[in-house]
Amino acid sequence: KPQAVIFDLDGVVTDTAHLHFLAWQSIAAELDITVDEQINEQLKGISRMDSLARILRIGGAEQRYSEQEKNRLAERKNALYVASLQQLSPASVLPGIAALLEELHRQDVRVGLASVSLNAPRIIKALGLVEQFDFCADAGQIKHSKPDPEIFIAACAGLGVSPANCIGIEDAQAGVEAINASGMLSLGIGEQLKHADLLLPTTAQLNWPLLQTFWLNQHS
Ligand code: BG6
Ligand code: MG
Repeated sequence: KPQAVIFDLDGVVTDTAHLHFLAWQSIAAELDITVDEQINEQLKGISRMDSLARILRIGGAEQRYSEQEKNRLAERKNALYVASLQQLSPASVLPGIAALLEELHRQDVRVGLASVSLNAPRIIKALGLVEQFDFCADAGQIKHSKPDPEIFIAACAGLGVSPANCIGIEDAQAGVEAINASGMLSLGIGEQLKHADLLLPTTAQLNWPLLQTFWLNQHS
């Protein structure tokens, strides 16, 4: 069996991916830039400042704002996002996740979090899941967003496990690439993801027997 399972947060543990989308959409609208669901897919797993840079590039506006203005825009996006996090509660944990976390502990499989969100600690707290994660990688210490494997490697190091003994779970294309680059097995959540070692349509299909079978099939 795997020694650890490492989770992405936004879009895997809870549906904050949608809240990021709404906050960016409203900031972009002020700049006359349209952010649709397809553009939002490219922002998943990407840090706050990198997301802003992409949105400005899509709007052909990357030269229009000073560093200071960009920082202000990112701060305002975050204020909108943080306000929307007030709606989070333990009921916001996506289907299948809470039961899987409990079962992983029963099976003595370590549990890690690999989110590049600086808001991850407060989200985990609002979801009532602080005790369920053996180690959460610190996004503040990470230099490169996904698809760089840095955050997944940091999570493995914090858990004291080798990536080759772990499964990573992701809803973003950049995240699946990051898991693959780290040397972990990748489990993608969503219909459109490419290159995942296993793809499930939603978190509702996630459970321990499925992870065990996935692991055994990849190691036979
Ligand atoms: C990732 C999200 O988890 O965190 C991205 O998928 C987001 O959409 C990134 O931009 C950074 O989040 P935050 O909370 O630090 O702005
Ligand atoms: Mg995600």
